[in-house]
Amino acid sequence: MGKDRSLGRTGLEVTRMGLGLAALGRPGYITLGRQEDLPADRSVDALQAQANAVLDAAYDAGVRVFDVARSYGRAEAFLRQWLDRRDLDPGDVVVSSKWGYTYTADWRIEADTHEVKEHSVARLRQQWALTRQQLWEYLDVYQVHSASLDSGVLDNDEVLDAMAGLKAAHGIKIGLSLTGPKQAHTLDKAVAVHRDGHRLFDTVQATWNPLEPSVGAALLEAREAGLGVIIKESLANGRLTERGRSTLSDGAALAIDRAVARHRTTVDAWAIAAALAQPWVDVVLMGAVTEAQVASNLSAQNIEWTDDDSAALSELAEDAEWYWSYRKQLPWR
Ligand SMILES: NC(=O)c1ccc[n+]([C@@H]2O[C@H](COP(=O)([O-])OP(=O)(O)OC[C@H]3O[C@@H](n4cnc5c(N)ncnc54)[C@H](OP(=O)(O)O)[C@@H]3O)[C@@H](O)[C@H]2O)c1
Repeated sequence: MGKDRSLGRTGLEVTRMGLGLAALGRPGYITLGRQEDLPADRSVDALQAQANAVLDAAYDAGVRVFDVARSYGRAEAFLRQWLDRRDLDPGDVVVSSKWGYTYTADWRIEADTHEVKEHSVARLRQQWALTRQQLWEYLDVYQVHSASLDSGVLDNDEVLDAMAGLKAAHGIKIGLSLTGPKQAHTLDKAVAVHRDGHRLFDTVQATWNPLEPSVGAALLEAREAGLGVIIKESLANGRLTERGRSTLSDGAALAIDRAVARHRTTVDAWAIAAALAQPWVDVVLMGAVTEAQVASNLSAQNIEWTDDDSAALSELAEDAEWYWSYRKQLPWR
């Protein structure tokens, strides 16, 4: 795997696959199999060791894109310590982080509130200072975390001006991540935001997978407008793995069985291959928590996507409202 893809018109060259640390930066998260896949010891030291092993496995396999956020527990610090330990040149990797959520779980799996969202200019300034301190020379893309129409962030001139200021002053790219059934509406609105005669947002990070493809057309338009397109939750939080079968309809499970048998591959590799096959996708972020998951996820790149696979996708899409309401009730484990 080489850095052979342009991230939209950002000027950044990226690998098709990246690694996100949402699941490795803190003890609790919402994916299906944490009890089995992570060690029972969820101390800071144990998770940092796990993060190092997974980062090493991804990097050694060629991955050069890494995504974190202020709210992923210690993800920014884990990433920085790993970058220093490997003595990597900032030009060797593409690093993105996000502002807008504060981590509030205090390193507990069972917390009343795991993260609190606030898209104010005060939160932006506070979190920018922390991220800058942590990742500074490595930071390439700074994103609004889970921008939505409800959060009002795209109508907040103070915030938009401040992000344009960061871009002008520090030469970083500005992005947004999306969430919920209205990802497409939010993205359309974001693409129209301009500052100083230029589009403000350089990249978008969105949930697209065979169960929730509703943002696809909007991502295609955004890519044509020049934004870099990064895909998250390509495995629907673990539902598109062997373990997620019971969460699928009978028809969806059958369509996946057929596709997986056709390619002699794994469910996760086929789902990631589906995202890689969309011509408007630049990077697919893995959320792997073990070295074995990294290997299985990366094997997606060996799958030759066919018309039969595209036809299977039409049997898998769920109603977007239903998909997101299911996701909302996933427990933190
Ligand atoms: N709003 C946002 O900005 C936002 C939201 C979500 C994610 N993201 C970004 O996108 C990245 C990836 O998303 P994600 O991790 O949430 O979702 P995901 O890619 O849909 O799910 C990843 C999870 O699937 C399971 N998995 C992966 N490979 C597997 C395998 N071979 N066998 C069994 N289970 C497997 C693992 O969880 P278990 O082992 O625990 O089952 C893993 O943590 C994040 O790290 C983050 O950087 C951003």
